Amino acid sequence: MSVTIKSEKEIELMREAGRILAIVHEELKEFVRPGISTMDIDKKGYEIIKSFGCIPSFLHYNGYPASICVSVNDEVVHGIPNKKRILRDGDIVSLDAGVIYKGYHSDAARTWAVGEVSKEAKRLMEVTEQSFYEGMKYAKAGCHLYDISAAIEDYVVANGFSCVRDLVGHGIGRELHEDPQIPNFRQRRRGPKLVPGMTLAVEPMVNIGRPEVCWLDDDWTVVTEDETLSAHYENTILITDGEPELLSIRKK
Ligand code: CO
Repeated sequence: MSVTIKSEKEIELMREAGRILAIVHEELKEFVRPGISTMDIDKKGYEIIKSFGCIPSFLHYNGYPASICVSVNDEVVHGIPNKKRILRDGDIVSLDAGVIYKGYHSDAARTWAVGEVSKEAKRLMEVTEQSFYEGMKYAKAGCHLYDISAAIEDYVVANGFSCVRDLVGHGIGRELHEDPQIPNFRQRRRGPKLVPGMTLAVEPMVNIGRPEVCWLDDDWTVVTEDETLSAHYENTILITDGEPELLSIRKK
């Protein structure tokens, strides 16, 4: 498959998919607290998504068993919700969610603090979110795709952390995963030119320690090899003639 350029009509649908997903994350943020299970978060997320008449896109995707990926501490992404996994004060929890609205996808992730977390955990979450915005400085027509990748990594490395290399961002639209792949680290070329109408899911995954990750025996949960904390921040965006439009963030 090649990169798809969305029509104005498609973009309208993706705006709505993104707006709904932004609300899902806002409501889940309020729900996260010590004492709940990661399964509680999945149930809540499923209910919110359904209340908007949307389909949770992750549920049954390649056999994934839940609507929200819930990844705690050294879990990077794709954690499987479990009623026995109780969140505790001091944990950080990454929530990744996707919805389908009238055939169009949005995909976004946030990392939240559970109660009071360490200074370093806080800094990890801030750097991860900011690395996304550093990438956004190059998410414009005329720039190249891997300019985004390089900006993300440069910022993360300058702050003493590392970017996961085994997982990437992606194009998005009628499918959850479309071309192109979007690495979160510098490539040796600038890659394809960005064109208005491209819709992308940019998703830095940042580790405090080394960038290497491995998979647990459940074949989903990705964890840091050195067991340091990891954070994830993702939005679905639209390339325009000017600044990128952040579809999965609610406009103030
Ligand atoms: Co994604």
